[in-house]
Amino acid sequence: MGIESQSVASLHARVQATLNGEERQRGQGSWSPVERYLDPVRHEKELRALRRLPQAVDAASRLESPGDWLAKSVHGVPVLLTRSKDGALRAFINVCRHRGAALVPEGECGQGRERFVCPYHSWTYGTDGRCIGRPHDRDFAHAPKAEAGLVELPCTERFGLVWVVASPLSGFDWGAYFGPFGREVEELGFTRASGVRNRRSFHQPSNWKLVFDANLETYHFAYAHRETIAYLFHDNVVIHDQAGDHHRVVLPKKSFNELDGPPERMEGYARAMNVIYFFFPSTILLWEGDHINGFSVSPVSAESSSVDAWLIVPEQHANSRSADYWKLNFDMFWKALDEDFELSASMQAGMASGANEALCFGANEFPCERFHQSVERIIGQPG
Ligand code: FES
Ligand SMILES: [Fe+2]
Repeated sequence: MGIESQSVASLHARVQATLNGEERQRGQGSWSPVERYLDPVRHEKELRALRRLPQAVDAASRLESPGDWLAKSVHGVPVLLTRSKDGALRAFINVCRHRGAALVPEGECGQGRERFVCPYHSWTYGTDGRCIGRPHDRDFAHAPKAEAGLVELPCTERFGLVWVVASPLSGFDWGAYFGPFGREVEELGFTRASGVRNRRSFHQPSNWKLVFDANLETYHFAYAHRETIAYLFHDNVVIHDQAGDHHRVVLPKKSFNELDGPPERMEGYARAMNVIYFFFPSTILLWEGDHINGFSVSPVSAESSSVDAWLIVPEQHANSRSADYWKLNFDMFWKALDEDFELSASMQAGMASGANEALCFGANEFPCERFHQSVERIIGQPG
């Protein structure tokens, strides 16, 4: 059930009970061994497991028109995204089926393409991935052209972003993957028509999981964010839900206390609360009323990762605010988030010091441990 349909009133009552001290959501205290953030063998296992799960990779608006394309590696797999003539968005492994050269250079994008020609021997592919031509076709009787199409990957558009699974799994069920929290984000107005206004990509010198440890608890707000956003939020409040491996954390602001009662719709909370949607394994969407600040993290090595971030605007606010307004929101968000990323980097730098055999999660930080349980489970599965 979505956040609108299950009634804003019940969420309101829950937040109020938490702020009054009548409810106090807590879990088990736990330990997170430092090997989780250091071990290169484990890193390889994680990478293989992550390749079988969705990752938000870029703004759908970068692939709006037929012929648009973009090459970007996802968890170390080179991916080519295309918008074909029929309007479908597709993802392929950016590797030629002849002898494996890259079709287009990593990191590049373009428009108006009708075909992709391999630079090595000119095998040619349509934007739908079919092999449509190759020189001296007679020499390849053993390798039928019909079977020489690019390897397709599961791919979809949700909340203004392109999501890809970096393994060629057939029949991937996107509806089941996004589940109730996905429906909730759509109910909040972040449909296919949402647009990305601001973006940013950067290298993060820490294990990818440290980033999510930092974003699944509120214990640090009052201290790590004392110069930025701490004054806005209640201290050490946990209002957490889980759907499968995905998490939702409601963050009531101090201004929540000024509301007379539950608003009719979630939009009424625009200034009174934020909501974190964490889509396991690696994407966070933070709802801030008239926009979402989202980012995804991809491991590069055990001790480093790459981050892509976007400010997403729903259709109803496409023209209601200025570019400066969105930029200001994006910069404010990243001023606070940079504090988390810097702390994660400092934790990584001290990880091998021997000070801790394991990191300590309090009963208030239980969503972090739940996240690690999910990671343990996926790396234990046969890849
Ligand atoms: S490797 Fe692509 S055509 Fe030969
Ligand atoms: Fe934070």
